Amino acid sequence: MRLVLLGPPGAGKGTQAQVLSKDLNIPHISTGDMLREALRAASPLGLKAKGYMDQGALVPDDLVIELVRERLSKPDAAKGFILDGFPRTAEQGESLGKMLAGLSMPLDVTLYFKTSMLVIIRRLGGRRICSKCGKTYHMTNFRPKVDGVCDVCQGSLMQRPDDREEAIENRLVVYEKQTAPLIDYYKKKNLLEEISGDLEVDDLNIALEIIFKKRNLVGNRIQNAG
Ligand code: AP5
Repeated sequence: MRLVLLGPPGAGKGTQAQVLSKDLNIPHISTGDMLREALRAASPLGLKAKGYMDQGALVPDDLVIELVRERLSKPDAAKGFILDGFPRTAEQGESLGKMLAGLSMPLDVTLYFKTSMLVIIRRLGGRRICSKCGKTYHMTNFRPKVDGVCDVCQGSLMQRPDDREEAIENRLVVYEKQTAPLIDYYKKKNLLEEISGDLEVDDLNIALEIIFKKRNLVGNRIQNAG
């Protein structure tokens, strides 16, 4: 299955992508995670991206498009993928369309996580990530076994710099202006399905099952998982 997850910051795209990636046995490709990884490694890309990310602005299209082009050309993406956080501008949407046409790998569906402001604020305010491996937690919804410590690698948990109040405001403005127009873009291509990002993880998963069935993507799901 080839999926795009679209929605505002804190909608739960990354969390749901991890569940789907396991279920479907296809890679979760998050441009946010890749950029944060580049930042931790202090690579040239990470250093270029840092200023934009900390302020909640978008990293320039050319850098991100190249990152995704490289990632999609890896062998594991041939069996399907979940794109999380890409595309998020009209230019990225057009580039993705061309890339996938060139690879003869058309998108199956774009899942739009429509999420209320109250939920967004609660999710972003309570989110913590591991400073070492990047795993995501939430102070009330998904707590680590030991406060402040990552279950997986024992790294210390921290708040993402762009989860500070000023950066959140900016991310929401950027989302409305630059990313939300992609909802109509995919709707016109008959590739859009809307689900409530307010749902709890398990309920969201059930809602997704229904969408996959409606779109005849179930066989694809079983095939990938098997
Ligand atoms: P990115 O990492 O993509 O951030 P985002 O799109 O703002 O999305 P978030 O990671 O904030 O939210 P999410 O929807 O994944 O929520 P999550 O699952 O973590 O991008 C960061 C930055 O990188 C950008 O601002 C930009 O600078 C740059 N960038 C990235 N891609 C780019 C691109 N294509 N072009 C240009 N620049 C780019 O959940 C949030 C919290 O809620 C967590 O604590 C989680 O545990 C909890 N939670 C999640 N789901 C549920 C649920 N269903 N029920 C209860 N709690 C839940």
